[in-house]
Amino acid sequence: MQHLMYSLSAQKMYLYILGLVAPWFAYRWYKNSRRVPNKEDKYVYITGCDSGFGNLLARHLDKLGFNVIACCYTEKGEDELKENASDRLTTFHLDVTDSTSVSETAALIKTLVGQKGLWAVVNNAGVALPSGPTDWLTIDDYKDMIAVNLCGVIDVTLSVLPLIKKARGRVVNVASVFGRVTPFGGPYCVSKYGVESFNDSLRLNMAPFGIKVACIEPGFFKTNVTDVVGMQNNLRKLWDRLPQDVKDDYGPSFLNDSIEMLTQRFRMLTDSNLMKVVSCMEHAVSAVHPRTRYSAGWDAKFFWLPVSYMPTCISDRLLRKHSPTIKPKVSAR
Ligand SMILES: NC(=O)c1ccc[n+]([C@@H]2O[C@H](COP(=O)([O-])OP(=O)(O)OC[C@H]3O[C@@H](n4cnc5c(N)ncnc54)[C@H](OP(=O)(O)O)[C@@H]3O)[C@@H](O)[C@H]2O)c1
Repeated sequence: MQHLMYSLSAQKMYLYILGLVAPWFAYRWYKNSRRVPNKEDKYVYITGCDSGFGNLLARHLDKLGFNVIACCYTEKGEDELKENASDRLTTFHLDVTDSTSVSETAALIKTLVGQKGLWAVVNNAGVALPSGPTDWLTIDDYKDMIAVNLCGVIDVTLSVLPLIKKARGRVVNVASVFGRVTPFGGPYCVSKYGVESFNDSLRLNMAPFGIKVACIEPGFFKTNVTDVVGMQNNLRKLWDRLPQDVKDDYGPSFLNDSIEMLTQRFRMLTDSNLMKVVSCMEHAVSAVHPRTRYSAGWDAKFFWLPVSYMPTCISDRLLRKHSPTIKPKVSAR
């Protein structure tokens, strides 16, 4: 009898929890699914549309009916995109490291959008090489990547902010899960942490003007940025230019061990479904209630983000365990 009473009250409790949780999920689903009206009146400026996420996003938003301003780094990128898009899509050449190119593009966009203003800018252009252990890199390596990944984001945003204010629009910044955790050396994580910080200050400062700011933090996806051959060549190139004493510190097997580990990890981790990232970008651009942060990819959600919240002593042990072992040349000890 007592057992029956217990199971009935447990059942009641589960129903009670379900009664609370189900409406909450339904409300969240409804909130997430609402999209802004009049897409045909809205202009979206995307950087780095030659390939990868930027290219797919440009074509996706074009299909959804937005007026896409797709900026490409190369003429080839522009031509290919035009062939695969509607007449609504406009392409411009843009080098985000060149302030003249950025301001000329902003002037062209101002003329194009007129009184409507600019609905959104998606700061997507980025590079990931050179990457390697910190003492393999020079200050110029850092400056060059920061010029694209961070200063480019800031310059492009500032150049069109008045137009975004006019439309009470959005800024979408493509950072990375490596703007939250640093598993390798070099300027990539440094630049992406910078993007996170710029993103956060912009979100706070622009809220009073009705501008929404969202940050996309993808894990590993299969694009040019994660091309294994490019990564292998990058490591060889960095190794070749090292002075002999630094090579001796790392030992003769370090380069090959690193290349082997990198190849294995990248093959295992990179996700080829770029739509996972592009759907987040699309939500940030077109949802009535965009989120402030989007973690795209299983590795980002279930590995890198949890690692970023771990105490440093634990995350360092974990990350070092999965790094190639340093076996210095005996005479170098
Ligand atoms: N793939 C990933 O796993 C991953 C993960 C996290 C974050 N991200 C970020 O996602 C963004 C897009 O990268 P992706 O993975 O789609 O790689 P991608 O295919 O290489 O796209 C990057 C784009 O940026 C362009 N670009 C490079 N330098 C530029 C410059 N100075 N000015 C203007 N455009 C320039 C590239 O042009 P070219 O092709 O002509 O060089 C390319 O179109 C990047 O910010 C990247 O850091 C990628």
